[in-house]
Amino acid sequence: MTGTHHGIVASSNKVEIRSLDFFYGKFHALKSVTMSVQQNMITALIGPSGCGKSTLLRCLNRMNDLIPGASAKGEVLLDGSDIYDPSIEVAELRKRVGMVFQRPNPFPLSIFSNVVYGLKVAGVRNAARLAEVAEQSLRAAWLWDLLKDKLDHSALELPMDQQQRLCVARLLAVQPEVILMDEPCSALDPIATMKIEELMLELKKNYTIVIVTHNMQQAARVSDLTGYMLLGEMIEFGDTNSLFTKPSKKLTEDYITGKYG
Ligand SMILES: Nc1ncnc2c1ncn2[C@@H]1O[C@H](COP(=O)(O)OP(=O)(O)OP(=O)(O)O)[C@@H](O)[C@H]1O
Ligand SMILES: [Mg+2]
Repeated sequence: MTGTHHGIVASSNKVEIRSLDFFYGKFHALKSVTMSVQQNMITALIGPSGCGKSTLLRCLNRMNDLIPGASAKGEVLLDGSDIYDPSIEVAELRKRVGMVFQRPNPFPLSIFSNVVYGLKVAGVRNAARLAEVAEQSLRAAWLWDLLKDKLDHSALELPMDQQQRLCVARLLAVQPEVILMDEPCSALDPIATMKIEELMLELKKNYTIVIVTHNMQQAARVSDLTGYMLLGEMIEFGDTNSLFTKPSKKLTEDYITGKYG
């Protein structure tokens, strides 16, 4: 939480990114990016296509590790510990820092099996426990009342917005600390988008959220902090309201006033 005391902002950094460089082979995709993600806040990453938003997001749970030839340099601290340290268990990290993708990606399984998937992988077999977590997670994703009578139906039958919230429920079931969302509304209509935005505002009470969005209005509506990226660099990072109303950099101003992008 942010508190001001004699003009000094005290904050709790859940994730700290320090001088992070990232390469796809020889291509320098992130250039010395420094920023911090504060606990129980929503941080938005904006910028034109190809500027490195998704790359930066994927660095936060080492999803880029899966890309051949990719390498990172610099530090990403989660609660003060470097997630790139060799001692880090990547599967454990991805449980703590979960991700929601652009297109909903439920598994071709029942609604129930989707929600408890992570628990089952972790070896939980107790039926009562699984049912309990399924209910809690679906409630938290605002799906319980809609879906409680058809938990055995295929997740693929659900409309797109419910599929996306089911993916959120599937994440919540494994109790993440940080939720990464890469353009989670880009496949959704405006009503469904509004619902996800409301859900994010509810979730931030218990989680820390980082969202990539193409939609500046969305960033302005939901986020507390915003980072504007261009060609792999973090041009400006700070309080969302200030960034949109009185940006400190000319490049940011040009972007938010629609001069390019
Ligand atoms: N797997 C990859 N291999 C090589 N280059 C990549 C790979 N993924 C992304 N890039 C390049 O890295 C740069 C940043 O890409 P990234 O996907 O992070 O941008 P973005 O800001 O998320 O763009 P968009 O808004 O279009 O999603 C781009 O130039 C892109 O072409
Ligand atoms: Mg992207």
